[in-house]
Amino acid sequence: MIAATSLRLLALVATAATLSFAAPSFADDMAATAPMGNPAGAEPIAGDGVYRAFHEQAGIDRIIDDFVTRITTDPRISARFQTANLVRLRFELKAQVCYLTGGPCTYSGKDMKSAHAGMGLKNLDFNALAEDLQLSMDKEHVSFPAQNALLAKLAPMQRAVVTK
Ligand code: HEM
Repeated sequence: MIAATSLRLLALVATAATLSFAAPSFADDMAATAPMGNPAGAEPIAGDGVYRAFHEQAGIDRIIDDFVTRITTDPRISARFQTANLVRLRFELKAQVCYLTGGPCTYSGKDMKSAHAGMGLKNLDFNALAEDLQLSMDKEHVSFPAQNALLAKLAPMQRAVVTK
């Protein structure tokens, strides 16, 4: 199961890398203008099919509650969250995932570059967090196509989040 989820993630990261190589000037523009761009880090998935596959707001709430428990106890990354405001983090993640999956939400938190500035996050941190999210989506029985639709929105954010 871990191998399968890692493979899915690797495929998505590879796709994102290919896209950014294919259009470097566009990607650079996006990075440069991130604070004025969409703070959620991406435009939402069209339609409400993916939002429904996440079991709407109640499902997203369950996924994020489980996810925050995982990342704050995952020995690979838990130290990163020691001083974090977890009430705010849960709230902002629920709004962000609702928005990105096409749900009726707005995201009013920080943009991804500002939210993670100065943390010195690495690719290993990003991959660990993405694996934890996949476990939380599996637990909610979100279909793989819907999971992949969200992961495809998150994968390019690696450029804004990872600074080391
Ligand atoms: C695509 C990947 C990621 C997304 C979508 C994401 C999303 C978010 C969001 C929405 C916030 C809250 C912003 C706000 O307070 O306005 C946040 C904060 C934060 N994130 Fe991430 N994040 C990602 C990757 C990571 C990684 C890899 C780590 C570390 C392993 C991390 C650690 C944190 C921490 C420590 C905070 C600050 C919490 C606080 O001080 O209150 N994030 N992130």
